Amino acid sequence: MQPFRFIDLFCGIGGFHQAMTSLGGECVFACDIDEDCRKTYAANYDLVPAGDITKIAAADIPPHDVLCGGFPCQSFSKAGHRLGFDDLTKGTLFFDICRILEYHRPKYVLLENVRNLASHDHGNTWRVIHDKLEGLGYNLLSQPVIFSPHYVGIPQHRERVFIMCVRKDIGKIAPFVFTKAQMKPCSIESILQDDEEIPGIDHYHISPEMVNLIDLWNEFLQNIKADRLPGFPIWSDRLCDLNPHEDLTQYPVWKQNFIRKNNALYVSNRAFIDAWLIRAKQNPLFFGAKAKLEWQAGQTAHPDIWQQIFQLRPSGIRVKVNTYFPALVAIVQTSIIGSRRRFLTPRECARLQSFPESFQPDVKQPQAYKQLGNAVNVKLAKFFALYMFGEVSADAFD
Ligand SMILES: C[S@@+](CC[C@H](N)C(=O)[O-])C[C@H]1O[C@@H](n2cnc3c(N)ncnc32)[C@H](O)[C@@H]1O
Repeated sequence: MQPFRFIDLFCGIGGFHQAMTSLGGECVFACDIDEDCRKTYAANYDLVPAGDITKIAAADIPPHDVLCGGFPCQSFSKAGHRLGFDDLTKGTLFFDICRILEYHRPKYVLLENVRNLASHDHGNTWRVIHDKLEGLGYNLLSQPVIFSPHYVGIPQHRERVFIMCVRKDIGKIAPFVFTKAQMKPCSIESILQDDEEIPGIDHYHISPEMVNLIDLWNEFLQNIKADRLPGFPIWSDRLCDLNPHEDLTQYPVWKQNFIRKNNALYVSNRAFIDAWLIRAKQNPLFFGAKAKLEWQAGQTAHPDIWQQIFQLRPSGIRVKVNTYFPALVAIVQTSIIGSRRRFLTPRECARLQSFPESFQPDVKQPQAYKQLGNAVNVKLAKFFALYMFGEVSADAFD
């Protein structure tokens, strides 16, 4: 790779920075509106990012070869549809990317966004982005590439769109084909820290009441008599006889369906469930979302939540197979590793995002989780940069 200069817009904690510097790039400008992100970035990369992109003139940004950005996804106003591209994108952060491209005309552009961008606003958002980038003089694929770390052995399910652009006078982006046969197996063990090496590990452990609650739900799963483990959410307040005075049609059909399934499960396990509910209600956590269970870990003769990973969600305790984690998100509450009876640590989240061990997350833990949940996966950013530069083919993911 030739040395090159890049800019890191909406830089967060520098997923793109990690990827591009590992390819020999030099970061000449970064910006993020969030002060904590800027501090983490400065502490790790010795470069203080600027703030709000909307307040920065393109002329104040140094020349560069590559523009990188994981920009927040926003709708384009309907009013703009009739008025043309500029009115369509004005007021959105994509507009700021466009004005910088117009001014600097870098050779390459690498953008990342949520998967929903491809279908957002009935495909209109993507069409506007595509046509606008093309109009600015870039070649790009007609559809964005959708890719997730778990496709290539990194145990996080995080489908994101990657938009690769090359200036028309330089070349084209080759059609990207990645098939199921190329997928690699994942194991959550590959990113876990040894418990002994985690400072203040008690902080990550779930509470004794939570352990008891999971034991209770395990007992439920292991003792109910049914052909299959429930594929529907188990709502403990619906594990009862139907109330003849309640008009179920007041609920949407999906909810009626779940209520009836919970009732059927109850009717065929009445004695066990009655006794179980008496004990479950003695646990102080057994209310609201924790009194609901979503078993999404497939059919097995010996269901055991401790062997899987689970999340505390508003819809219930959601149990997933222990091969890969659900996407990190910009909130504090991470997945719980059943076998360890604890939450993921910031270091493990950094590993899920393929940040190197040298990366220092924010010392304020809520911020660290949020920032890592927002970041782009470093290995994926690096791979798509190489693909965009024409240096690798789709089957060369390392
Ligand atoms: C999806 S995150 C990008 C994360 C980044 N790619 C990384 O690897 O950490 C989007 C970022 O855009 C930032 N942002 C939102 N509005 C902004 C603005 N007007 N100017 C600069 N940054 C902005 C947010 O603070 C957030 O960190």
